[in-house]
Amino acid sequence: MAFPAGFGWGAATAAYQVEGGWDTDGRGPCVWDTFTHQGGERVFKNQTGDVACGSYTLWEEDLKCIKQLGLTHYRFSVSWSRLLPDGTTGFINQKGIDYYNKIIDDLLANGVIPVVTIYHFDLPQALEDQGGWFSDTIIDVFDKYAQFCFSTFGDRVRLWITLNEPNVMSALGYDLGLFPPGVPHVGTGGYQAAHNMIKAHARAWHSYDRLFRKEQKGMVSLSLFCIWSEPANSNSVLDQKAAQRAINFQFDFFAKPIFIDGDYPELVKSQIASMSVKQGYPSSRLFEFTEEEKKMIKGTADFFAVQYYTTRFIKHKENKEAELGIPQDAEIELFSDPSWKGFGWVRVVPWGLRKLLNYIKDTYNNPIIYITENGFPQDDPPSMDDTERWECFRQTFQELLKAIHVDKVNLHLYCLWSLLDNFEWNNGYSRRFGLFHVDFEDPARPRVPYSSAKEYAKVIQNNGLES
Ligand code: NOJ
Repeated sequence: MAFPAGFGWGAATAAYQVEGGWDTDGRGPCVWDTFTHQGGERVFKNQTGDVACGSYTLWEEDLKCIKQLGLTHYRFSVSWSRLLPDGTTGFINQKGIDYYNKIIDDLLANGVIPVVTIYHFDLPQALEDQGGWFSDTIIDVFDKYAQFCFSTFGDRVRLWITLNEPNVMSALGYDLGLFPPGVPHVGTGGYQAAHNMIKAHARAWHSYDRLFRKEQKGMVSLSLFCIWSEPANSNSVLDQKAAQRAINFQFDFFAKPIFIDGDYPELVKSQIASMSVKQGYPSSRLFEFTEEEKKMIKGTADFFAVQYYTTRFIKHKENKEAELGIPQDAEIELFSDPSWKGFGWVRVVPWGLRKLLNYIKDTYNNPIIYITENGFPQDDPPSMDDTERWECFRQTFQELLKAIHVDKVNLHLYCLWSLLDNFEWNNGYSRRFGLFHVDFEDPARPRVPYSSAKEYAKVIQNNGLES
């Protein structure tokens, strides 16, 4: 029941979801400020992250939570527009640097390893105004921003995530328009944005490799949202193929170029090409990497950062094809087992995580794997005694133990989403992922542990489950 010695136990947050202080101390606006301020019920009750958990002023309270849990790692994101209000290094906001320096220093002083996400959905509005991820000028701008982060914080930060869930950002933001910039470009926009995201990540990794690695000795990757897709009928070749397509489109789309050979999965390329022809496009809707770009992209990750929430059964359906991103919105028929416990869109399937880890091991040459997010949201109002939810975590940890000890998956870190209840994007404050309850009606934003927090602290202390 024990995890290997030195296994990392973390919790995660992201700037826009917890910080608040959206216009404090020189922070520039980001796309989520614009999107939420526009209203239009795209976010639950038109809620915003203006105040959120107030972590910009209440960091000390967050630190108390982190210490109470006994975390070995804390994953958080730096807000691009707090550091560089217009997105470029032309103007640097010292107050932003001070804020993150304090977080990093306090973590290290308490023996907690920082895992820093450079960009977690909150693009500076000034960059969106110049075309955002549709424009390839952003590749260079992102690279400079990443270099700025490495040079400012990299003397103390060793673990970096460049982009959080580019597969979600490109699909929800630039394809479906459910996330900012909020305008649908279905079937084309996501591919264009994703193409630039892959190149931006690769450029930043090379900058680290060339300019910082020797001295700082850190590791850089990007985190991917990975739903496990299970064939509805395991004996049906058609269902098996449909499930493989769902996986290809969902995260192999990013992982294969970066981990294997600099290019998209073959099946993705051929399928989009043939669909595009049928749909009357002059050529494939998918962009192509040049040979030089492929060389640049290949091998640009030092570990595999996986974010797992749920599993879906996949059933083949004639004339329905997969598309980028999230299987719900993709192709095929896809469904959950009614017996699976549900927390919002998250259906609890601990075995799906084990299968996913094995798929990554087999497909990507047994990489070092970090689970940078996994969690289950309670609806509002939540139960402070969340024993049922804890049972889902316990079962998840049992699957991790099997993956490590039986399957020999190279897993070294687990980060639970999330340290605090926070702004859950389109769901606003109505979905509570936290280990600590936050009262969003109270200006003091008190943090109170759910019973899960106490259980998680025990797991961390024992480095495993009590048998
Ligand atoms: C993944 C995202 O990175 C995070 O921001 C979000 O809150 C969780 N999924 C839960 O949906």
